[in-house]
Amino acid sequence: MERDGRFRLAGKVCAISGIGSGQGQAAAILFAAHGAKVVGCDLRAERAHAVADEANAGADAAGSGGEVVGIDANVFVEAEAERWITTAVDGFGRLDVLYNNAALGDFGMMEDMSLERWRTAIGYELDGVFLGCHYALPHLRRDPADSWSSIINTGSVSGMVSTLLPGMPGGMAHAAGKAGVIGLTRSLAEEYAPAGVRVNSISPGSIDTPSLALADFDADEVLAAVKEKLLIKRRGRPEEVARLALFLASDESSYITGVNIPIDGGWSAT
Ligand SMILES: NC(=O)c1ccc[n+]([C@@H]2O[C@H](COP(=O)([O-])OP(=O)(O)OC[C@H]3O[C@@H](n4cnc5c(N)ncnc54)[C@H](O)[C@@H]3O)[C@@H](O)[C@H]2O)c1
Repeated sequence: MERDGRFRLAGKVCAISGIGSGQGQAAAILFAAHGAKVVGCDLRAERAHAVADEANAGADAAGSGGEVVGIDANVFVEAEAERWITTAVDGFGRLDVLYNNAALGDFGMMEDMSLERWRTAIGYELDGVFLGCHYALPHLRRDPADSWSSIINTGSVSGMVSTLLPGMPGGMAHAAGKAGVIGLTRSLAEEYAPAGVRVNSISPGSIDTPSLALADFDADEVLAAVKEKLLIKRRGRPEEVARLALFLASDESSYITGVNIPIDGGWSAT
């Protein structure tokens, strides 16, 4: 079949975690509009299904041939993460792109955090990335002379620079977890280059998604302090992050692996 150049993920099967909201939602919609077959999971079944419906309507309107299957799966739970990947491989016969987007942040000061809470917090940042990669990699192996697959992990500006802001509790567990994602990504890129897998991370700054309100990071005081640190004086939009993920998922980024790309309005540059 002739590839339509308008559809940058035509023929690719993608697994995206956390499609129910924010950046994962934007990615599911954009990937399908560019012809990808997507299996997207979320903790919240009704959100996964609603976003799949929205993405499928968009893909139909664009005539891209893309499709999103939304499933209920918690990527912090091994059997559920495995089922997410298996659904993609069984449903569409292959896997080309893994986008580990879902994570949860726990914010608190060192002295207030028990060891148990610390371990859970680190797990919330890293377990979904570990399990996604663990179950997807056998299906992502390629002969690098022929083609490459792509893993996109979600780090954060908090894994690169200290991002403490007034009114916010400490962020050290979140920072450690996200720095872990960035380190895991770099190491995995070297380990799996011989197997034809590109592995990169994206590190959003302050992106306007529902998670900010959940963590009380949408207060005026926090927003004002964030803007102080930014070169582009506004919060990012989920669609802007999705466009970077689309680039890394597509063959347009064929010579990029092992990098962490900030998408943070210049926050990490200052
Ligand atoms: N919003 C920001 O400012 C910001 C900044 C830096 C990094 N990030 C990172 O970006 C990613 C997406 O964040 P967002 O702001 O779009 O969040 P969001 O809350 O808008 O969406 C996250 C979605 O993931 C789902 N989810 C959470 N845990 C899950 C799990 N274990 N299994 C399956 N689904 C799960 C939630 O139900 C939700 O629908 C996260 O990794 C987050 O740490 C966000």
